[in-house]
Amino acid sequence: MAISNFANRCFGLTLCLLLVYVGARETPNFKFRAVNLGGWLVTEGWIKPSLFDGVPNKDLLFGTQVQFKSVKLGTYLCAEGGGGSIIVANRTSASGWESFKLWRTTNVKYQFKVFNGQFIGQGVGLDAVAVANTPGSTETFEIIRNTQDNKRVQIKGPNGMFLQAKTQDRVTVDFQGDPGWGDDSPAVFVLSIVNTLQGEYQITNGYGPEKATKVMNDHWNSFIVEDDFKFMSKNGINSVRIPVGWWIASDPAPPSPFVGGSLKALDRAFTWAEKYGLKVIIDLHAAPGSQNGFEHSASTDGSQEWGKTQENIDLTVSVIEFLASRYASREGLAAVELINEPLSPGVSLETITKYYRAGYDAVRKHSPTAYVIMSNRLGPANSTELFPLANRLRHTVIDVHYYNLFSSEFDTMTVQQNIDFVYNNRSQQLNSITRANGPLTFVGEWVAEWQVQGASQADYQRFAKAQLEVYGRASFGWAYWTLKNVNNHWSLQWMIQNKYIQL
Ligand SMILES: *[C@@H]1O[C@H](CO)[C@@H](O)[C@H](O)[C@H]1NC(C)=O
Ligand SMILES: *[C@@H]1O[C@H](CO)[C@@H](O)[C@H](O)[C@H]1NC(C)=O
Ligand SMILES: *[C@@H]1O[C@H](CO)[C@@H](O)[C@H](O)[C@H]1NC(C)=O
Repeated sequence: MAISNFANRCFGLTLCLLLVYVGARETPNFKFRAVNLGGWLVTEGWIKPSLFDGVPNKDLLFGTQVQFKSVKLGTYLCAEGGGGSIIVANRTSASGWESFKLWRTTNVKYQFKVFNGQFIGQGVGLDAVAVANTPGSTETFEIIRNTQDNKRVQIKGPNGMFLQAKTQDRVTVDFQGDPGWGDDSPAVFVLSIVNTLQGEYQITNGYGPEKATKVMNDHWNSFIVEDDFKFMSKNGINSVRIPVGWWIASDPAPPSPFVGGSLKALDRAFTWAEKYGLKVIIDLHAAPGSQNGFEHSASTDGSQEWGKTQENIDLTVSVIEFLASRYASREGLAAVELINEPLSPGVSLETITKYYRAGYDAVRKHSPTAYVIMSNRLGPANSTELFPLANRLRHTVIDVHYYNLFSSEFDTMTVQQNIDFVYNNRSQQLNSITRANGPLTFVGEWVAEWQVQGASQADYQRFAKAQLEVYGRASFGWAYWTLKNVNNHWSLQWMIQNKYIQL
């Protein structure tokens, strides 16, 4: 309701404030039955892999972790000591010290970050070393791939010569001429990819500024459209949780490599939500520096830098304030989630508590009533650790994510064991965080997917029903992950259309 209407119905300012205050402490009779609009304004490659199809060398994105085996010696390149020393080629098997994270500067030029964080470069006497803490031109190499098998590579140094494993103890950047592709060439390596990130940072960096602007805006215009809001409203969904990235606050010209346009898309989502009577939960899914190292928080190379400086926290608070001020007056705004899935122990309880307090105040500056959602930390963390803070504040919500995945305990569970786990363990966990005078509880992410192979439609229906029943007891509500996904069970749209889920 508009402020003026509300004021008209009040007899005096004091009563008015009293009503606002009393109203705010009540548990809402409205329960959020939401769906996440995942993979829309924050890229996740697995949700829509085709988005990356036009990236040259799309398997060698920023942050990809690779290993190199010398074809001649049969051993792996290794940063001796994990970094800070020379590069050797004397390891018969590969793990951390033998893995390098690619920093992609062009479609073919890369810098190699070693285990301890330094970059491979040319040292004295053209020895390959890993001593530079920040990469520059002497740390920038070209990867030339063998187009026949796409596995063999040559690595051309900044001096125009190739990196070669002369002996197991001596790796240098001084092979001149054509290294060829033969088994006896010291400058040929077999490339293997250990891990790839496909987030917003990778896609925008991979396409480069011009193409990225086009590709991302095409995606933002087509992946979620007005019809989707119509579909949701017709099928029992009453709200959307929309993941956004921190760069949205500097639209239309965000810091490189991010590109502008996501703010307009969010504006449209509000318009459609309001038209079809849905509520919006804005969810800061990707905070500057990444709060968990995953691609879904736009991590550059798997590192988790969020919260390490006051400047970084202040920047994040300003993003929240920007979003709150822009949408506070919109009828569709229900809640602002301050950050998604901060990961313990990298993000300490002290840091997150400090940030949540500041973020809460930033929302309250613009909206006395919007719910402020605080995500519990992932990793080793106490599920009620935010209570001392949230208890003291009005209209707060604790967000927990319940997946029967991502942990080995689920690997061998049968259909029935999965369902029992929901009815027993999940309901117990939810109970333990739902308190009469505490913050509201929100299962902000869940999915009817598991490790069970070959389950029937009926199995999925029972599993979904169990979760709807249990998570329906959360005092704020729940949100399915996600609306659209090439993996059918992760798409609520598909699950509804194919009668796996009925709301
Ligand atoms: C690899 O070579 C380095 C440099 O000679 C040496 O210090 C290290 O012990 C060697 N490691 C193995 C496993 O051979
Ligand atoms: C979890 O945190 C709450 C709130 O600080 C505290 O009361 C409780 O004792 C903690 N539980 C454990 C097991 O540490
Ligand atoms: C689920 O809860 C039961 C009963 O509390 C417990 O025995 C069991 O270990 C829990 N299962 C898992 C996988 O945590």
